[in-house]
Amino acid sequence: MMETIGLAKTEFFEEMRKQGLALAFDDVRLETDHSEIMPADVDITSFFSRGIQLKIPLVSAAMDKVTEHRMAIAMAKLGGLGIIHKNLTPEQQAAEVARVKYHLHGLIHKPIEVRDTDTIDVILRRREEKWYRFHTFPVINSEGKLVGILTQNDFDFCRDQSLLAATVMTPFSNLVKVDETDNVDVQRAYEIMMESKKKVLPVLRNDGTLQGMYVFSDVKRIVSGESSRYNIDNQGRLRVGAAIGVCDDALARLEKLVPLQIDVVVIDTAHADSKSVIDTLREIKEQYSSLEVVVGNVSSPPSVRRLAYAGADGIKVGQGPGSICTTRDVAGIGTPQVTAVYWCSLEAKRHNIPVCADGGITHTGDITIAMGAGAYSVMLGNKLAGTNECPGEVLLMEGRQVKVYRGMGSIGAMKAYRSSRERYRQGDVPAGKLVPEGIEGFVEYKGPVEMVVHQCVGGLRSGMGYVGARNVEELIQKARFLRLTGAGQRESHPHDLLKIQPAPNYER
Ligand code: XMP
Repeated sequence: MMETIGLAKTEFFEEMRKQGLALAFDDVRLETDHSEIMPADVDITSFFSRGIQLKIPLVSAAMDKVTEHRMAIAMAKLGGLGIIHKNLTPEQQAAEVARVKYHLHGLIHKPIEVRDTDTIDVILRRREEKWYRFHTFPVINSEGKLVGILTQNDFDFCRDQSLLAATVMTPFSNLVKVDETDNVDVQRAYEIMMESKKKVLPVLRNDGTLQGMYVFSDVKRIVSGESSRYNIDNQGRLRVGAAIGVCDDALARLEKLVPLQIDVVVIDTAHADSKSVIDTLREIKEQYSSLEVVVGNVSSPPSVRRLAYAGADGIKVGQGPGSICTTRDVAGIGTPQVTAVYWCSLEAKRHNIPVCADGGITHTGDITIAMGAGAYSVMLGNKLAGTNECPGEVLLMEGRQVKVYRGMGSIGAMKAYRSSRERYRQGDVPAGKLVPEGIEGFVEYKGPVEMVVHQCVGGLRSGMGYVGARNVEELIQKARFLRLTGAGQRESHPHDLLKIQPAPNYER
């Protein structure tokens, strides 16, 4: 008796290849299997690149209507990652990254210090220029020793901004502080701050210089467990990524992003298997060898191989599946996404690089399918567009609340931004001669992104439960694919209802 109907994954995709068939999400479903795991118990931790872990395998797209600091903060707090788009100057983009990186700290190892001889006015101006979001500054003297601390209160109640920090600060004698040899961890720091009712706890070296600093609001979040699901770096700060272009654009952005300790950059192009991308990747890896670099987009195994040899730490797969993409219609190229993800992942596995499936996720089940096909994460544009955290206003259109969502290769984005034109290799093309590869439109206003992510994670967990996969690796190993017929597709979606009532995870 046949054990199962679906072919093992390799046989399935080999068979499809023999028939010259490439498949999209709605062409396939995964076969269920014996399960000893409940959806709530599956482990969905994964990787975006070799060194960048994810607590949930969802990444927000580097698009100007999707990811700026609000989305990146929300995604990292939910365990995922946001990639700040590049329709911004290098300075603006770095400011967005800084807002994410400065949002949450454990022990701040290198707090930004000010001198006792600086005026309040100078400090506030520097704060503005450097995009610092905080108001807590340790004050040091000419020998580099801590002499006091400036806090939000000191700034708020300062009547004269020409006063020196030394006059306005809380002086050293009034501070509660600990020695580095005390080895105070976050929990102990919390207790000390609670007891002393102090919102800042400096950690001093024995020569009186500052080793680090705890800030109460962050410490409280960490200790209360609120941050246990956050995606954070080894210093307790939220993780964030940024899109970069090629050649000079990439290097100009890295000059600003690397000092902020950006976690990962994404060379973001419509066709990554090209000389300029590969040269840029090599140069970045030479100059910044420890920087994690994800490269995209591609859709065939030889492209993955070339990028792997050039040093990629992660590969983004997807040429034309996106909801706003017209590349396949305009240029006549591209591989339907499930097939692209499978073959690219197979090649990437040989180089020990994770693949991110980028574009085309419509239903939450598509995430399970993409990851079953071999992806370690998915990038979401449309699914997250329209949430509160996306840039842009809520508009009223024919009685419905909507937000704008557009392709980075849409005519609007290309006219307005050189980086959009460069993504589609038309950097110097005049406005009237542009050939767009994306469209602009509206999506339903969706409220907080947390609700959307909750449904995506819920769908993935459910799918893994049906497949009997305890973790992402098992999902990739166990997934068995079935190809749908037209009748199968119709049966797979809701049918035979006069009107479908809105559901939190289903739209038609
Ligand atoms: P979804 O389906 O989530 O796809 O909306 C988002 C992804 O689509 C890519 N992207 C584009 N592709 N023309 C394209 O061909 C465009 O104008 C365009 N803008 C974005 C991108 O990879 C994104 O993550």
